[in-house]
Amino acid sequence: MKTKLVQLLVENQGKYSSGEALSQSLGVSRTAVWKQIDILKKNGYQIDSAPKKGYKLIKRPNGIQEYDLDLFLQTKRFGQKVTYHASVPTTQSVAHKLAENGASEGHVVLADEQTSGRGRLGRSWHSAFGTSISMSLILRPLLEPQQIPQLTLVAAVALTRAIEKVTKLEVDIKWPNDILINGKKIVGILTEMHSEPGLAKVVILGIGINVNQSALELTQDDRNQATSLSIEAGMEINRAKLVAQILYELEWLYDLYVENGFSELKVMWEARSISIRKRLKAQTINGTIIGTSKGISPEGALLIEDDAGVEHLLYSADIDQA
Ligand code: BTN
Repeated sequence: MKTKLVQLLVENQGKYSSGEALSQSLGVSRTAVWKQIDILKKNGYQIDSAPKKGYKLIKRPNGIQEYDLDLFLQTKRFGQKVTYHASVPTTQSVAHKLAENGASEGHVVLADEQTSGRGRLGRSWHSAFGTSISMSLILRPLLEPQQIPQLTLVAAVALTRAIEKVTKLEVDIKWPNDILINGKKIVGILTEMHSEPGLAKVVILGIGINVNQSALELTQDDRNQATSLSIEAGMEINRAKLVAQILYELEWLYDLYVENGFSELKVMWEARSISIRKRLKAQTINGTIIGTSKGISPEGALLIEDDAGVEHLLYSADIDQA
């Protein structure tokens, strides 16, 4: 309903919409409209409420629509096509569908809210309305399916660079692709692909970032495991500027990777990772391994030597300090 209400206010921007007209269009009571307007105002919308006239949208906050992005975009391909939704179940499914219908590499799907966001390992991902970034980028790399985990690491490097440039914060990468500030998660990356034997035909690179959520919003959702960029930076972050910087860093690092292979990117990843040369506990589908991480393999797998001196190459696991 919030999305529909925003749409109606945007369509009528600069003019008043009566509470009665809004309640009719939305099929809810005028009190329900008033409550939603109040929530929107708390989320940074500037809405004028005048008795007998209704509500007038004056300014939307910190948007990530195509026209917001255009101000900052410096890429040749990535983000040149944008599909924006105020609210979707998940941007991943929208991007898969677009790719099936022939969307080109670099087409990006952005949403202000996801109602069934997907995380790694079958988990869900919560995207707060208007304060986070939920994006899915369509890639058509001429790579083998087993190279795709490397692509996730490339994305992590691009994200750290973009976040550091826009916010001046220092961020760390936790293997394989979590981005943390002071040990708290700020970004999640999810790569999904359609492949055929020997070729990863389409990769959907999903990126979720906690940008402008307040501590209260995060505490409720993430039980102190996560933070947001605005909490850490002590200021509101321009989401469109950040998305544009991410697309810029992704484009050139992806091209570098596809042209020259993983070796340069591996060095960049290791320089930013807190998962190297540490005692770690790794939860895998085959059980728990405790040992010391030695680095990542050329394929991007994490190499752990356990206390008996046995080396394990992990392709998928949850890791924590031991
Ligand atoms: C993780 O578990 O850390 C990965 C989270 C990935 C979340 C992003 S948000 C945009 C895209 N759409 C989704 O449903 N998931 C990814």
